[in-house]
Amino acid sequence: MTLSEMDAQAQNILRTNDKGNYTVPTAGLYPYQWNWDSAFAALGFAQFDIDRAWTELETLLSGQWDNGMVPHILFHSEDPGYFPGPDVWGCNGPIPSSGISQPPIAATMAKRVFDQNPEVGIQRFAPLFKPLLRWHQWFMDWRLDQGAVCITHPWEAGRDNAPDWDGAMAGIDPIGVGEYTRRDTAHVDSAMRPTQYDYDRYVWLVQLGKRLQWDDSALLAQNPFRVADPTMTFTLLRAQRDLAALGDILGEDVSAIRDAIAELEAGVDTLWNSALGAFDSRNTKTGEWSGSISNASFLCWYAGIDQPDMHNTLTDVLNEVQYGVPSLDPRSPKFDGKRYWRGPVWGIMNMLIATGMTEHGMSEGDALRRSTAKLISDHGFSEYFDPRDGSPAGGQSFTWTAAIWLSWATPSLIAGAN
Ligand code: SER
Repeated sequence: MTLSEMDAQAQNILRTNDKGNYTVPTAGLYPYQWNWDSAFAALGFAQFDIDRAWTELETLLSGQWDNGMVPHILFHSEDPGYFPGPDVWGCNGPIPSSGISQPPIAATMAKRVFDQNPEVGIQRFAPLFKPLLRWHQWFMDWRLDQGAVCITHPWEAGRDNAPDWDGAMAGIDPIGVGEYTRRDTAHVDSAMRPTQYDYDRYVWLVQLGKRLQWDDSALLAQNPFRVADPTMTFTLLRAQRDLAALGDILGEDVSAIRDAIAELEAGVDTLWNSALGAFDSRNTKTGEWSGSISNASFLCWYAGIDQPDMHNTLTDVLNEVQYGVPSLDPRSPKFDGKRYWRGPVWGIMNMLIATGMTEHGMSEGDALRRSTAKLISDHGFSEYFDPRDGSPAGGQSFTWTAAIWLSWATPSLIAGAN
C-alpha cells in the first residue's frame, strides 16, 4: 500500500467508526465512547476535519458527573455485544456511563487540536476549560497518594491487565461475583485478552462501586484496590501543564493548576523504584512495588520529567524487541507478547512516549516514530501488536491507531517525504 493509500485508509477508519458526535474505538469489541480513545480520535480528526475534532471532545465532556469525574465509557446507546453494560455499572450521570475514569489526556489533545487552528480553537475550547479544570481537580481531591495519582480499578489506568496490579488483584477474593458472560472473547482470541481470574475481579470491583453508589468517600474507605500508577500520574501532570497553557491564552486564573503541578511533581518521586531503575506502580494498601518496567514507566519525559537512569532502562528494554516500546519488559517472567497489556506494543503509548522524548531532545523520539510507522504499514491498524515480530493483535480497524498514524506516525507529515 502506498503512503497516500495508508493515509486514506486511516481517515476511512475514523469515518467508519464515527457515530456522528463520538467515535467508537472499533466495531464489535468496543461499541461505545471511551474516554482516552476519544481524545486520540479528536487529534486524528484534527488532521482533516477540525470541527469534528472539537465535537468529539465536547461529547466526551458532556458526560461529566456533578462531582467533576469524566467517565471512562459513555453508553450513548445500548449494545448487547459488550459486557459490562450500563445496567451492571448502575451510574446516574447525565449520560449512562461507567463509574470510573481513564488517563486524562483530553486537555493535552485539546491543546494540540487548538494549536492546529487557534482561530477555531479559541471558540470551541473556551467552554471546555472549566469542565477540564473540574475533572483534573476531581483527581487531585480523590485520587492522590503522596502526590501520585491512584487508580481504583485496573480499567481506570487503561492498561487493564498490566502486571502492575497483580499484587492488589491478589488481595481481592471475588466472592459472590455470580454468573456473567464475557463478550470480549467472542470478538477476539482469548489468548490476547485478560484471563478469567482478572475478569472476576474486574466485575467484583464494579459491583462494589455500584453497591456504594459510586460515592467517592465510601469508595476511598472500602475499596481494597488502590494503586499509585505512572500512567495516571504522568498523564495528569502533562494535562495540567497543557491546561495551564490554554488557560493563560484565555486569560483565566491558573494559580490552582500551578499548585497542582507542584504537588504532582512531588508525587512522581514516590513512583521511583530505585531497585528496579524505573518508575513503577505502588500498591498504596501494602506499600509494595509491582516491580514492572512498563511502557507507562517511559511517560516520564511526556510529563516533563527527565530521570537519567531511565535512559539506560530504555536502551535495555528496546534491545529485547523488534518493535518497541513493549508494555512489559520482555526480561520479566510475566511477559506475554500477545496478551493485551502484558507485553504487546501500543501505537498510542509510543506516540505519547516519543512526544516527550522529542521535547527532551532525545533522538529516540524520532526513531520510535519511524518504527511505529513501519509497524503499522506492515501490519495494519490493529489495536496492539506483538513486539517480537509485529504481528497484529486485538481489535482491527482501530480508531486510535488510525489517529496516531495521521497525527504523528505517517511519513507524509515530514516535509518532503512525499
Ligand atoms: N478495556 C476494557 C475492556 O476491554 C474496558 O475499558 O472492556
